[in-house]
Amino acid sequence: MAKFVKVGRVGDLADGQAKVVQVDGQRIALFSVGGRYYALEAGCPHEGGPLADGVIEGMRIICPWHGYDFHLKTGECELDPDLRALTYPVKVQDDDLLIEMA
Ligand code: FES
Repeated sequence: MAKFVKVGRVGDLADGQAKVVQVDGQRIALFSVGGRYYALEAGCPHEGGPLADGVIEGMRIICPWHGYDFHLKTGECELDPDLRALTYPVKVQDDDLLIEMA
């Protein structure tokens, strides 16, 4: 059954910032963009680059290692449609940031 895990508070991240959180042994990159929060697997699905250290362009995070792009919401990669980052739903509840884990 899916469960929501608290990973921080609204205000922990300024707009355009990211941080890595650990949930159930998985490293997840949490992004704040335009007042919304997005969560992707922290390791790039290409070769494991640190997505939280990438550059945010619109709704995409650009991996700092080789420049592949991943949509913050869907995880889809435009440059290589065979690549896709795992994404996790994020919800805000009473100023807590919660990630849904399967
Ligand atoms: S490791 Fe991310 S683009 Fe290569």
